Amino acid sequence: MKVTTFLPLVAALVASVSARDPVTLNLTGHIDPSQVMSFVYVPFQVEPETTSVYVLQNYSLKGKGNALDLGVFDQRGYQLMNGVNDTFGSRGWSGGFRNNFTITPSWATPGYNPGAIEPGTWNVVLGPYQSVPAGIDWQLQVVMGFDPVDTYFSPTFAQVDFDTVGQFEQQEWLRGDFHMHTVYSDGKYTPDEQIQHAVAQDLNFIFFSDHNTDTSNNIIGAYQQAFAPDLLICRAIEVTTRHGHWQAAGLDREQLIDWRYQDVAGFVDATQQVHRAGGFVSVNHPFAACPACNWGFDDWDHNDAIEVWNANFDSSDQQSIQKWHELLVAGKFTAAIGGSDSHSPPSMNGVPTTVVNARGRKQSAIVAAVKNAHAYIVEGPGKSMIFNVKVKNTVAQIGDKVHESSSGAQAFLTVEGMSGQKACFISDKGYFYNTTITDGKVLQHQLPRSLKFVRVEVRNVTDDSALGLANPIWFL
Ligand SMILES: *[C@@H]1O[C@H](CO)[C@@H](O)[C@H](O)[C@H]1NC(C)=O
Ligand SMILES: *[C@@H]1O[C@H](CO)[C@@H](O)[C@H](O)[C@H]1NC(C)=O
Ligand SMILES: *[C@@H]1O[C@H](CO)[C@@H](O)[C@H](O)[C@H]1NC(C)=O
Ligand SMILES: *[C@@H]1O[C@H](CO)[C@@H](O)[C@H](O)[C@H]1NC(C)=O
Ligand SMILES: *[C@@H]1O[C@H](CO)[C@@H](O)[C@H](O)[C@H]1NC(C)=O
Ligand SMILES: *[C@@H]1O[C@H](CO)[C@@H](O)[C@H](O)[C@H]1NC(C)=O
Repeated sequence: MKVTTFLPLVAALVASVSARDPVTLNLTGHIDPSQVMSFVYVPFQVEPETTSVYVLQNYSLKGKGNALDLGVFDQRGYQLMNGVNDTFGSRGWSGGFRNNFTITPSWATPGYNPGAIEPGTWNVVLGPYQSVPAGIDWQLQVVMGFDPVDTYFSPTFAQVDFDTVGQFEQQEWLRGDFHMHTVYSDGKYTPDEQIQHAVAQDLNFIFFSDHNTDTSNNIIGAYQQAFAPDLLICRAIEVTTRHGHWQAAGLDREQLIDWRYQDVAGFVDATQQVHRAGGFVSVNHPFAACPACNWGFDDWDHNDAIEVWNANFDSSDQQSIQKWHELLVAGKFTAAIGGSDSHSPPSMNGVPTTVVNARGRKQSAIVAAVKNAHAYIVEGPGKSMIFNVKVKNTVAQIGDKVHESSSGAQAFLTVEGMSGQKACFISDKGYFYNTTITDGKVLQHQLPRSLKFVRVEVRNVTDDSALGLANPIWFL
């Protein structure tokens, strides 16, 4: 899918090339307000023997009513990737974060994929995000260089499976964060800073999830080795579309997911790409306020999870919990997860932390735990919970589906780091028992009959924000 396999060809070309002057193209155009939220492709020819591509973007009323995203597709083309087409020509994306990028065989601007520069028609992609009524006048300066190349990029992938000899095959609660960014998209944190924070926040796993780019996933191995060899660093992309953001998590090496679809069918296609690779799909911050950040389609059938708690708890998270609860009541097995969405100081990964019951310290086990809703969310380090239901001879854990009725069932909740706060028991009929909780003390409660499910929340007694939230235990 990627270009690293063409390296021998380039090496052969380079040997016969002597440096020549760069070629500069100045391209201009106009985008009409009616094109906002679509994508505009600007073709340019890459000549044989080119060893670098630099693009500088400029446009009218930048930051004063106009916003224009930036990315590039190489000679493989820019057709939409679907379930049939496995080739994807994307060579990088920086959204509205950068005004220029460089791609060479040995390195590239973060967010762009280094590797062989193949001749042919490349396309800058411009993504109008906001426009004044007069539209957007844009200019692109494209500079292609021919300097000889003697080093080539090779990815260093993180280890996503620590079970090398099956030593972690037992079930284990692992603390993690599914959602964070770096300088490889629009964050200020470097990968090593995010990794060091994860260790300080007592996390066992993290997912790098830069916007529409796999470039951080391709360099993280070296950082894992150097800073946190015991931290599981998994692969995700925040698929940042014109109809909402979602997490494609548990991806293959160098797997990209198309973000340019404009209808539900395109979304469904994209989710299939994730599922085929063994990953999960989670709708991110469905009620976020910025344009196209909230969930754009009324489709809740193709995601495995919902990020009901994004960064510090606020009213949009409360709306997400409400929506998730409605889906549960309608009988959909959709997991609730959290994500810090940390980009830059002062935001911190692990706030909130999602704790999953995984069978094995590996990406595939974490994905499986999410798909089975074997997960709960807490506000951050130092907080945890144990929630069980005992019915007849069965002890059910968070996410389990028991084939018993709830009559006579006992629920047990124990927490750490939340003393004096309010524990709430919730069923498909709503909140049915609230009480004060004490750390380390088992809270036992007999469940009403004929519940579809029971789940728990711990709420701050002062401002009602969530401190903990568990996925339901089901009675089927
Ligand atoms: C492109 O624009 C740059 C900067 O404005 C200018 O220096 C250069 O001469 C132009 N090149 C061409 C081929 O028009
Ligand atoms: C950028 O575009 C604006 C508006 O089109 C123009 O006024 C300005 O001179 C351009 N800047 C550069 C560095 O080309
Ligand atoms: C699949 O790829 C081929 C060749 O690149 C292209 O012609 C075709 O339009 C693509 N199909 C879709 C549905 O994008
Ligand atoms: C190119 O982008 C970098 C940041 O990535 C910025 O520091 C630099 O000023 C930009 N160059 C121009 C000519 O705007
Ligand atoms: C229980 O707590 C929840 C969350 O704070 C609240 O919405 C609900 O009204 C409470 N129920 C009762 C019966 O107090
Ligand atoms: C509960 O909320 C209050 C008011 O926002 C805050 O000061 C306090 O730290 C919170 N308590 C916990 C345990 O987070």
